[in-house]
Amino acid sequence: MTDRHDLPPGFRWGVATAAYQIEGAVREDGRGPSVWDTFTAREGTVRDGHTGDTACDHYHRWPEDVGLMRELGVDSYRFSIAWPRVRPTGRGPVNAAGLAFYDRLVDGLLDAGIEPLPTLFHWDLPQALEDEGGWLARDTAYRFAEYAAVVADRLGDRVRSWITLNEPFVHMVYGYALGNHAPGRTLLLDALPVAHHQLLGHGLAAAELRARGGSVLITNNLTPVRPASASAGDLAAADAYDTLHNRLFNDPVLLGRYPDLSAFGVPADLGGAVRDGDLALIAAPLDGLGVNYYNPTLITAPTDPGLPFADAPIEGVPRTAFGWPVVPDGLRELLAGLHERYGAALPPVTITENGCSYPENLDDQDRIAYLSSHLDALAAAVAQGVDVRGYFTWSLLDNFEWAEGYHQRFGLVHVDFETQKRTPRASFTWYRDLIAAHR
Ligand code: FCB
Repeated sequence: MTDRHDLPPGFRWGVATAAYQIEGAVREDGRGPSVWDTFTAREGTVRDGHTGDTACDHYHRWPEDVGLMRELGVDSYRFSIAWPRVRPTGRGPVNAAGLAFYDRLVDGLLDAGIEPLPTLFHWDLPQALEDEGGWLARDTAYRFAEYAAVVADRLGDRVRSWITLNEPFVHMVYGYALGNHAPGRTLLLDALPVAHHQLLGHGLAAAELRARGGSVLITNNLTPVRPASASAGDLAAADAYDTLHNRLFNDPVLLGRYPDLSAFGVPADLGGAVRDGDLALIAAPLDGLGVNYYNPTLITAPTDPGLPFADAPIEGVPRTAFGWPVVPDGLRELLAGLHERYGAALPPVTITENGCSYPENLDDQDRIAYLSSHLDALAAAVAQGVDVRGYFTWSLLDNFEWAEGYHQRFGLVHVDFETQKRTPRASFTWYRDLIAAHR
């Protein structure tokens, strides 16, 4: 069965990956250590002690992976560039061998007729910068812009569009507030300057990329927030959570201001992090908003006095192997909500990640159902007037799923991590046929 969705002409189909999750080769060709190398080496951080040392060995096997994408027929490939390959200590000398890898990859993609869509930061900060405060330090934003300029100088003749950051919310919360991702800090609300410094880095990098003729997107992880009931307490809690998860990262880039964080007892300058002129940089016009959607969030009034909200389980829906609720209409709800909230300030949207983890089978009908139903929801949002330009499945390959190691399999292609053998799943063939049906 190949379903067709009513999508605008020129709609882009893609797949997404990230450097630390697939590349391996962490000590090769002058790559410096990243926070994820340090974090995974620490006992008890990742399930079963898994690390990204080898991952999918994509660093060596990229031609095969590009071949798979050519077979899929994708228009575009969203991958990330590892900052510590390009500038091993985050500042100072550029590592020519590291840049050369991405140069080869970009050429390989273009030869296969696939547009390269690189993300410049997908969480693998050079450890040397973390030692100086990481994203808690304002200086990191400036180092990020320098790195963006170096990469654009090398690849900008062939790369037309760039994504600056991946999911600054998730990086702040898991990396700096709760500590279940690298760098493993547990600062709770004191992590908030990490939001601002990442966004400042985005703004500074965007200026460098545009000066070199590039188009610029940022990718946010967004979730429609649903109050558990219509009670005043649940409504206020849902509003607080929506502010933290969605508005904190959308409002500055789209509207040039931070939302009211008073429910968190946080001042508008995020504890002194925001300086004059920062918001103007952060709000420089975007060519597109990248949206990663996995599931909605159900919120109730707080149970713990430290936070103005509490999470509640979404009942009565299927769950992925990760335990994430499957709620396809959440994608329509999210997109329609963005359109309503931001109006003309909302640039064209691209779904830069959407996908699911299921057990290790090759006949992954669950994944097909997940992707297909989410594309129905996307088409419904388009019918409601939302300007959506593309859809990237997470992910091309099974890969290193952060704190879960190799236990969550998100790939259209199965990877045997012992032999590195790639085997396309039923969802791969389904996605290939779907893309072809839209030509
Ligand atoms: C997103 C990340 C991506 C991947 C998926 C499952 O939050 O951006 O790297 O891990 O979740």
